[in-house]
Amino acid sequence: MQRPKILLTRPFPPKAQTWLMEHYDATLNDGAPLTPAQLAEAMTQYDALCTALTDRMTADILATPGARVRLIANYGVGYEHIDTAAAKAAGITVTNTPDVLTEATADIALLLMLMTSRRASEAERSLRAGHWKGWSAKVLLGQSLEGKTLGLAGFGRIGQATARKARAAFGMTVLYHSRHRVAPDIEAALGADYVETLDELAARSDVLSLHMPGGAETHHRVNARLLKRMKSTAILVNTARGSVVDEAALADALKTGTIWAAGLDVYEHEPEVPPALLDLDNAVLLPHLGSATVETREAMGIRVAQNVDAFFSGKPVHDRVV
Ligand code: GLV
Repeated sequence: MQRPKILLTRPFPPKAQTWLMEHYDATLNDGAPLTPAQLAEAMTQYDALCTALTDRMTADILATPGARVRLIANYGVGYEHIDTAAAKAAGITVTNTPDVLTEATADIALLLMLMTSRRASEAERSLRAGHWKGWSAKVLLGQSLEGKTLGLAGFGRIGQATARKARAAFGMTVLYHSRHRVAPDIEAALGADYVETLDELAARSDVLSLHMPGGAETHHRVNARLLKRMKSTAILVNTARGSVVDEAALADALKTGTIWAAGLDVYEHEPEVPPALLDLDNAVLLPHLGSATVETREAMGIRVAQNVDAFFSGKPVHDRVV
């Protein structure tokens, strides 16, 4: 029997890539991310595409005439770059890689809380620029996170892991708002109180950390109006998707002191970072590092390989989203 033809649209960590190359008729694109035309072409050439968030799988691409693809196995947990309704209509299965990147991404949320609250990027830039004149009781004073209120907007796996870590590390009081209220035993275990609206959460939080999915429903949920609801001492942290935040409104809020600082790992039009944010000392800007550890990236690759293998051997596909 012919082995299924699969395309890895980006290089994978070694273990999963080697395994896929050995067990499937696999091709690797190790050049630039594929263009829409190349993705459409790939739709007609392969049985499965192993995609990443840089591959925009639009309705047009998914409906490519003569498409052969039956599985899109995404390397990553977020999948708003894949039009799942169009995939469903075309009878294409879509999978993602949940669980394995939860802790790493929550760690980045905590890192951003610390970097913003203690002004780490600004302070290091100042030292490297030769501006450090020695210890002083007054310069570069940050804010303590100890006992402050953490508001989590979105309370899935990563939001919950962030709650657990922030409570353990800083004794933070945890509030959350999400589409679905979680079960009382989860709230009790995490010491998290549900708040009815995002507006109320924004108003009560010292740190507002975003953990909702991307896509049309959450587009610019953090806008000028919501930022005005926040405390002037508050910090915004985004490890979710850049599209959730109106970046121009955020830059304005940071500049005018509407809020105190922001720590971002994601941007609306990656890899573009708005110059207005680059200019601000109270914005900590990381280049989408959420899952970027050797261990996590390897585990994500293995999860993709498991999804591909389950699909083609007719077993239940655990990470199926469509
Ligand atoms: C990364 O952002 C992911 O969705 O896995």
